[in-house]
Amino acid sequence: MTAETEAASTAAVKTGGAAPGAAWHHRHLLDLDVVSWPEIELIMRTTDEMKGILARPIRKVPALNGRRVTTLFYEASTRTRVSFETAARNLSADVVSVSTATSSVTKGESLVDTIRTLEALGAEILVMRHSVSGAPYLAADIFGGHVLNGGDGWHAHPTQALLDLYTMRQHLPGGDLHGRKVAIVGDILRSRVARSNVWSLTAAGADLWLCGPATLLRGMDRWAAAWGDGAIPGHGRFHVTSDVNEALRDADVVMALRIQRERMQGGLLPSLREYAARFGINAERVALARPDAIVMHPGPMNEGVEIAPDVATSGRAVITEQVTNGVAVRMALLYLLAGSHDSAHAGEAGR
Ligand code: CP
Repeated sequence: MTAETEAASTAAVKTGGAAPGAAWHHRHLLDLDVVSWPEIELIMRTTDEMKGILARPIRKVPALNGRRVTTLFYEASTRTRVSFETAARNLSADVVSVSTATSSVTKGESLVDTIRTLEALGAEILVMRHSVSGAPYLAADIFGGHVLNGGDGWHAHPTQALLDLYTMRQHLPGGDLHGRKVAIVGDILRSRVARSNVWSLTAAGADLWLCGPATLLRGMDRWAAAWGDGAIPGHGRFHVTSDVNEALRDADVVMALRIQRERMQGGLLPSLREYAARFGINAERVALARPDAIVMHPGPMNEGVEIAPDVATSGRAVITEQVTNGVAVRMALLYLLAGSHDSAHAGEAGR
């Protein structure tokens, strides 16, 4: 990066990502249902600026100097927690990481008391993961700062969907998803990643297909039918199928979702082996997609179940790029939310 582009990049970050025509007004990021397409584009452009910073020899700017970011994860995580903490440090924020396994949660402290305690200890931005859908919404009601949802139950994983979108745009000509076929295959029923991706990808104009065994798609066909064309302003329709060949044929993007072993009680699948045989993303199935199709996975992967090891490590796989992009996307979000402080306290409910 030249001195000029470095200076321009820093200036853009100082001025809010330099996305003409869009401004960030949300106090929290809980899901993408309330984030407009111009706002998503603002996140994408701000992420571009953050990628510029990450390409420098010293990957650190003072944008969040003195701001306090706390991560509170009630569920296991590697990518989301580490990338949020790395992102916050790259912006010079002070970072506190709370592991519920070693906190007073183990003594029965409630979520509400835990959040009030963290706020009393100085937390300003709370990044949270919880196994219960809706928990970050409760946190947003009681926390005086900003809440970022790092994944709640089956409900939403907005930062994952944004880094997925960013990665797709990097690989598709012109960064344009209009009419591009995106096939998401796996445990759709329990997938917060799939649900958040429905919002972002239908807003981007993608031809979105959700695919899995019928037992792992329950209710999704009714959601897709209710969604329809034009039913949700600014969003296109999406498709639901158990026919993996139909989903993958001529796809531009193939995304495998983890078969969540820890949530498999309930007999929704005969066996993991049968799932792999009928729905696993293997080389033969990838061959149905376009020759230049990319293969994605939000991680963590069960190689040999939802994705074959040779596919996961093939030249088409962009899985490690997704992880790397997660840092820049989360830097952008921390930066935008921290900058929304004034509007957040000017009456906007902030969701
Ligand atoms: N994709 C994702 O959320 O990964 P982690 O569970 O490792 O954070």
